[in-house]
Amino acid sequence: MIPDKAPVEKDLYHAAPEVVNGAHVPNFQKYKELYLQSTQNPEEFWGRIAKEYYWKTPQTGKFLDYNFDLTKGKIYIKWMEGATTNICYNLLDRNVHQKKLGDKIAFYWEGNDPEDCMQVTYKELLQQVCKFANVLRSQGVKKGDRVSVYMPMMIESVVVMLACTRIGAIHSVVFAGFSAESLCERILDSRCSLLVTADGFYRGDKPIDLKHIADEALRKCRDRNFRVGRCIVVKHLGVTEATGATDETCTVKASSDTSQSPPAKRSCYNLQITWNADVDIWWHDLMKEASDKCEPEWCDFEDPLFILYTSGSTGKPKGVQHAVGGYLLYTATTFKYVFDYKPDDVYWCTADVGWITGHSYIVYGPLANGATSVMFEGIPTYPNVSRLWEIIDKYKVTTFYTAPTAIRLLMKYGEEPVKKFSRKSLKILGTVGEPINPEAWLWYYNVVGNSKCPIMDTFWQTETGGHMMTPLPAAIPLKPGSATFPFFGVTPAILNETGEELEGMAEGYLVFKKPWPSIMRTIYGNHQRFETTYFKKFPGYFVTGDGCKRDKDGYYWITGRIDDMLNVSGHLLSTAEVESALIEHTSIAEAATVSHPHPIKGECLYCFVTLKDGHEFTETLVTELKDKVREKIGPIATPDYVQNAPGLPKTRSGKIMRRILRKIARNENDLGDTSTLADGTVIEELFKNRCKTA
Ligand code: PRX
Repeated sequence: MIPDKAPVEKDLYHAAPEVVNGAHVPNFQKYKELYLQSTQNPEEFWGRIAKEYYWKTPQTGKFLDYNFDLTKGKIYIKWMEGATTNICYNLLDRNVHQKKLGDKIAFYWEGNDPEDCMQVTYKELLQQVCKFANVLRSQGVKKGDRVSVYMPMMIESVVVMLACTRIGAIHSVVFAGFSAESLCERILDSRCSLLVTADGFYRGDKPIDLKHIADEALRKCRDRNFRVGRCIVVKHLGVTEATGATDETCTVKASSDTSQSPPAKRSCYNLQITWNADVDIWWHDLMKEASDKCEPEWCDFEDPLFILYTSGSTGKPKGVQHAVGGYLLYTATTFKYVFDYKPDDVYWCTADVGWITGHSYIVYGPLANGATSVMFEGIPTYPNVSRLWEIIDKYKVTTFYTAPTAIRLLMKYGEEPVKKFSRKSLKILGTVGEPINPEAWLWYYNVVGNSKCPIMDTFWQTETGGHMMTPLPAAIPLKPGSATFPFFGVTPAILNETGEELEGMAEGYLVFKKPWPSIMRTIYGNHQRFETTYFKKFPGYFVTGDGCKRDKDGYYWITGRIDDMLNVSGHLLSTAEVESALIEHTSIAEAATVSHPHPIKGECLYCFVTLKDGHEFTETLVTELKDKVREKIGPIATPDYVQNAPGLPKTRSGKIMRRILRKIARNENDLGDTSTLADGTVIEELFKNRCKTA
């Protein structure tokens, strides 16, 4: 239940008059009114929003049909039966032709190096997307085919994604920080027919040989009897093919013409790429010939739009599949209301397109609204720790959306690097990905936002496609650390262990009672896993896997994962995935991983390993184990701590008691109930071997 009135206590943060004036939702009463409409009459609420978009054919059947109750049969969600559309058409053609936004800037691209920048208008983006859509068609890609995208933060990534959607192909973007093994696993799982990548990129001063990693992934695919048709390579660092050596001076892009790679000087890096002419083709060779007119493929509202892999508690990543129509409506609407979007805004989300935040709030939501965004290739600390604030001033950013981990990292350097820049264009701030601790919230609010910009703490997931629990800038007074209230159409409940809904002040499992438009529709190739993961524990509800508290004012506070997942710098990892990487090492008999608090990353990995007989626990082994995890998953999963564990605490049935391991990692002696522990003698040894933690 949403309270009738917002609380008025002094310790809440209320919007300043300049935020309230002209806001889409100016006060709490209006929020509540719209919320009730959206939940009591979704057809009217979403139907009204759908009218703002282009439908090739209108809805003819049911507006919403679904089953959330596994005991009654298969889980399904279907909206707007009969409606057909094309999401790319809505994001680009509609904005260029109907809204006359062709000359408006869609993206300011800011490269890793401050001097590398470019901009692209809606009209130019449409041309590039049409060209690449034609390239895809000429490569034999058809509606429903999967295209793997393994690219850095560059405009071409957006071009590829939208080109796929234009022809009804399904993109599967894999974060460019993932390893060859992870890329291979994802290509195999969704049987991608084509891969698009780049020669390489810089992360700060570190060059990343992306093509090399992609080659390795394709080799691994071939070893497992699978071949992608082609690998299209964007020339980003300016290497020359086949020769294995770079030009005298490497080049990077500094133009809005994304079919060419005109040079901008940068320090030379001897990137060597191998070229397999049977598979590899340069992007610019293909784009040269392509026409910039491309008829879109009209898709059903429920047709698959994209797959994005997220960690699963079994260790095998899940290909979360979203649907065309619902994802369009929901990302567009959340973007408009949560960031109180106005046509003159300059919006910047620092996420990577490889994650859901990049999909929903760099690409789809902003473009659906005809917004101007900044897209940033670099990192917050390069070339110095003022970089983010400098970019805010450079582009006069009004709306800034980042992760708590970035805030905590920059907090370490104090206020001076922030205050060097005015940030006076800022109006609204946002965070995503993990709970934000009140200290970081206050620093973000007072220092970055000069105590005048409300912070939208948005709780959501890859699975939800868009914001679920979130404030609205003018309407909802803020409490540092709370994601506040449900967005329109979202029906949260808190359940206890036996599945009863708890009322009033409560703590338990966060679930949703009804579908919202952008709920995932399935796990690619494994609908049964979708049903068991999200609907089995509590029939009739979508289970988030997060714990949650509701306070006396009805505010929701996300308390973190209650399954075997952990959240490192806002990235979800499964303990099982890390453990299976560790036990691949020849010295390891058994491994258990738990989360451990970390001052910047929020959580980090603390691993316990049991060695095989005759093996020794050494510094070298620790390094090898860390490398193993990096190689299998990627650098984000590198464990911070690896401890020798001659024995692990287990129940009599052999299940590892991670609860106890978490306490040991934190050096907490009160272990709680240990009556189910099979062999208590291992505990003392584990405490003795503890790693010294920060
Ligand atoms: O545990 C929650 C946490 O991130 C998880 C979802 O991760 P992922 O699918 O990778 O998507 C991240 C970007 C949306 C959630 O189950 N999480 C996300 N946002 C918040 C959060 N925890 C607390 N507060 C948030 N605002």
